[in-house]
Amino acid sequence: MPNQDVNAQNPAVLADSSQTNNVLGAPWPSSAVRLADGAVQIGGVDLRALAQQHGTAAYVLDEADVRARARALRTSFTAAFSQVGAEVDIYYAGKAFLSVAVARWVHEEGLSVDTATGGELGVALRAGVPGPRIGLHGNNKSAAEITRALTAGVGRLVIDSVAEVDQVADLAAELGVRAQVMVRVTTGVHAGGHEYIATSHEDQKFGLSVVGGLTSPAMVALQRVLHRPELQLVGIHSHIGSQILDPAGFIAALRVVLQLRALLAQSTGVVVPEIDLGGGFGIAYLPGETDLEPQQIAAALAAAAAEVTTELGVSMPRFSFEPGRAIIGPPGVTVYTVGTVKPVQLADGEVRTYVSVDGGMSDNIRPALYGAAYHAILANRVSTAAPVTARVVGKHCESGDIVVRDVLLPGDVTAGDLLVVAATGAYGRAMGSNYNMVPRPPVVGVRDGVSRELIRRETEQDLLALDQG
Ligand code: LLP
Repeated sequence: MPNQDVNAQNPAVLADSSQTNNVLGAPWPSSAVRLADGAVQIGGVDLRALAQQHGTAAYVLDEADVRARARALRTSFTAAFSQVGAEVDIYYAGKAFLSVAVARWVHEEGLSVDTATGGELGVALRAGVPGPRIGLHGNNKSAAEITRALTAGVGRLVIDSVAEVDQVADLAAELGVRAQVMVRVTTGVHAGGHEYIATSHEDQKFGLSVVGGLTSPAMVALQRVLHRPELQLVGIHSHIGSQILDPAGFIAALRVVLQLRALLAQSTGVVVPEIDLGGGFGIAYLPGETDLEPQQIAAALAAAAAEVTTELGVSMPRFSFEPGRAIIGPPGVTVYTVGTVKPVQLADGEVRTYVSVDGGMSDNIRPALYGAAYHAILANRVSTAAPVTARVVGKHCESGDIVVRDVLLPGDVTAGDLLVVAATGAYGRAMGSNYNMVPRPPVVGVRDGVSRELIRRETEQDLLALDQG
């Protein structure tokens, strides 16, 4: 099915509103408007001017929207959990997209930063985020990564295997520090979209299973942590998957983790102070879809925490969450320039218009990797042409190089037009590559009518700089 963004493209609607600016709404950044002349403006910046100044393809990030989303998550969770007597921390999951500026924005909004590698940790530290406000994940952390995290005094190092307990303890002993650790468990809850992004079912690489109760791998790791004086057990961690739109999976995981915490308390007398339920809050990618609202998920989880702690007769822990996509996804778009436009006759007699742009699977691998759907509109002018069934494709040497599989675009879309694709802020640049030696686009922050490059465009020189000849 083509994405039905008829409102943004439909000549009748445009004719009606030709004198006014249209707010685009979800899945677009909160500041995105369509000007009366058809141009799209984000953060007060006309994308035609942005394309002139920074070139295309370019990622564009609405700073005010990123900040507002970070703030909304923090305030919604704080309010809902304070009603049930629990404190909450929100960690921004930097894997979705991390730069020094973004780490600063979220930190200024009162969030901590969750990192998954030494590289992400390095960006958070460069941004000035204090070590105690940073978490480090990873199912295969190197000794160097662990050492760096301990030296920085990270607030939580999330242990992902039984062997890692001793590895971290030994390194902490060498450094003469006490490491604050969490243990990541798998609750058996299967949630999220694609198999590759669901993480709490048993047959995958992350975490330690709770199956088996007192003899489960999770319990073995927790007890091992308690036996090592170099380690301080600060929490139990669960991440069930990504792009989740129903709170039920989080509630099921919350119950399992609270039960495990109660079992540990019964068998050892140690009450774990904190539970981290990971990230995964889903967002709108297409018109007509909606985000998992912070207030809704916060209220549902706070109520579940109250219910389960009462039922088990245990104290209320502190909670934390690690959203990435929900903060950085919708505020980001990608602007491309249209090149080749090719009508292709299909077997059923229909015609599909292949619209090639100056980017593709190297700046957004998600359609190829997960079959992810996106939405695109013309960003530089009004068109009164009848819509055609289009497929937006990139410039790479692969037929799977699809940016937007199905979308209605004005029939007169042509070389030189600007296309803008919605909700590319999360896992776009972060998963970008140099396939076919295509330099990666810049990330341009927009705010109050001003644009600034947060990450500059790569050049051929950048690519050749690594080549030893
Ligand atoms: N915490 C942990 C431990 C995680 O593994 C992840 C994501 C997050 C937090 C943040 O999840 P979010 O709130 O962004 O959904 N590349 C995939 C997503 C992979 C997510 C991996 N872990 C995609 O493009 O959909």
